[in-house]
Amino acid sequence: MLQKTDELLVQIATNDYQNPLFIETFMRDLYAAVAFHADKYYAQDAPVITDAQYDTLFHTLKDLETKYPEFAITDSQTQKVGGNVQEKFQKFKHPEAMLSLSNVYNEEEISAWYDRCLKGITERLGELEEAPKVLVELKIDGLAVSLHYENGKFVVGATRGNGEVGENVSHNLKTIQVLPKLINLTDKIEVRGEVYMRKSDFEALNLQYQAKNQKPLANPRNGAAGALRQLDANITAERKLSFFAYGMGNAAAFAPTQSDAENKLAALGFPANEHRKVCSDVQEIAKLAQYWEENRDTLDYEIDGLVLKIDRYDYQEALGFTSHSPKWATAYKFPAKEVSTQLKNITLQIGRTGVVKPVAELEPVNVGGVTVARATLHNEDYILSRDIRIGDRVLIKRAGDVIPQVVSVILEARTGAEKAWTMLEACAAEEILVERKDGDADYYVVGGFTEKLLIEGVKHFAHREAMDIAGLGKNYADVLVQSGLVTKLSDIFRLDTEKLLSLEGFKDRKAENLILGIEEAKNRPLSRLIFGLGIRFVGKTTGEELVKHFTNFEELFNTDEAKLQSIEGVGASIAQSLFAWLQEEENKQLVADLKDLGVNTQRLDSEKPLAESAVTGKTFVLTGTFPTLSREEAAQLLKRAGAKVSSSVSAKTHYVVAGESAGSKLQKAQDLGLTVLDEAGLLALLG
Ligand code: IVH
Repeated sequence: MLQKTDELLVQIATNDYQNPLFIETFMRDLYAAVAFHADKYYAQDAPVITDAQYDTLFHTLKDLETKYPEFAITDSQTQKVGGNVQEKFQKFKHPEAMLSLSNVYNEEEISAWYDRCLKGITERLGELEEAPKVLVELKIDGLAVSLHYENGKFVVGATRGNGEVGENVSHNLKTIQVLPKLINLTDKIEVRGEVYMRKSDFEALNLQYQAKNQKPLANPRNGAAGALRQLDANITAERKLSFFAYGMGNAAAFAPTQSDAENKLAALGFPANEHRKVCSDVQEIAKLAQYWEENRDTLDYEIDGLVLKIDRYDYQEALGFTSHSPKWATAYKFPAKEVSTQLKNITLQIGRTGVVKPVAELEPVNVGGVTVARATLHNEDYILSRDIRIGDRVLIKRAGDVIPQVVSVILEARTGAEKAWTMLEACAAEEILVERKDGDADYYVVGGFTEKLLIEGVKHFAHREAMDIAGLGKNYADVLVQSGLVTKLSDIFRLDTEKLLSLEGFKDRKAENLILGIEEAKNRPLSRLIFGLGIRFVGKTTGEELVKHFTNFEELFNTDEAKLQSIEGVGASIAQSLFAWLQEEENKQLVADLKDLGVNTQRLDSEKPLAESAVTGKTFVLTGTFPTLSREEAAQLLKRAGAKVSSSVSAKTHYVVAGESAGSKLQKAQDLGLTVLDEAGLLALLG
């Protein structure tokens, strides 16, 4: 089911399921997946995908059920409020059903929700005396409970369960220290809120478990859910749960607005979240949403979004409920930064310094709009301390400014077929000799490997198609590196004739010529510098595509992976590799050094994309010798104008440009009946 789940999620992320012919099968698969994961989540407290991934499956299914009612089935999970009730607890019937919330994911959807509310209220109440204000709160990632007080005393408390009937967990709730047992109010009241675990408590607890060789908690939410559903209240107490109150039953009897009611709860001694704010319009809400998305990590508890509630109770009443959720409230969900997927393999990546890094090869997943197929595993200690094994289901995290990384294993998904991994075994399998020095987390390739890599790097940098430094690559790369004159690429530009003459076999002429060549290379186009740096997967064509979108290195350093992936010809692997390279301090320093030494790091005028013309989007093959342009120059012009230049003629070729002594390619073009141009014809097309 996990494999199927991943496939479904990819199909949803890429919108690859809309073909009406297959929709019925797709929906059937979705039903099965949602039912499977609902059981893991609600019944077993052992989810194997993230909440956000579950939401995605659930909401896609719900949308499809509306669009294709003919394929909807009656016992779909979407017809239940969620959750179930375990036998081990006494059942508790909620006097008022505990509903869930609808979700919105962006400003547009917030705005649509607000407009719906405004319309709904106006329809019921006529012209409004004031525009509805919205109470915005943090959406705490814990679990909902309902607490009942009578005559100032806590009498009973229950989980949400399936919304109608929950589990009586009073004995456990009593262990939560921040929950008042006595309040200064004799009316019967129901208080609703979220039980959660603080991140600091979660971490401290896991340290203790680790020391005692006990299984660690997967995350604070699971820790809280598990704690609340213990038969033994001592275990609950040990887990140190916390609580925020966010609502009251029959609240309109106590206060005119939601925010007043929450203030009242706070005055009675219930912890209410301090970051609640009444907003007057959608812009203000959107600003808060952005603020919290960026600053959620500063909180000592996990949030997965915001909850928006129409503040006035008379307006709430005018709007009412659907069968699942109040119309007067909705949850704004942050885009997911963590998703689960399958770790297919762990491979090795050898850096320029000879450092050997383990890399996770993943079943591709979409994280916040970017497809991720590889992630960093840092080093062996990182893997061993988290007990990450090949074949595991893992959580992947991708924050805007860091390389995707594997954060943890979903132990609940272990089948026993997973394979443990060690660096030495992996290196042995690849016949790489490595060593790890005391106090260093990394392994390094043993014996001259670093030098060899650098020599290869210098050769590549100096290559005719890269920085084109005559003679350097072929003849001198080894000597320069082995002599210690070049320890990194930027050292090439620190060479002078005097230094060269100190080397054996260098005479005046040779030295001067090389220095001249190096001097000239300072003015190469940006695309060639990008190519020359030898970034994994970044070839010549990628360099050329990149300069259509970035005018200097500064802009590249400030970009994000999604932007890179949106560029023509830049797939997930290239984007990830390039983005990772751009994040490395060492590489930033290298580019800064090159710039200081006078190397061009800006897009040249000759690299600017040309205006669209008849050649844009067309495929060309160039053959033979042209009267004025070199083939390379012609290719550059074409690419700048958005054409593709290919080396072989096929039926997909749009134009063949043939010069003097064109051979078999011209013949083939004629056989296929393709349009053949000469240089003048090409220039005319380019306008
Ligand atoms: S108000 C009708 N406020 O989110 C439900 N819920 O998906 C009204 N939650 O079950 C809920 N923080 O467990 C509300 N500030 C907050 C919340 C919050 C977290 C949870 C709650 C609820 C779920 C809805």
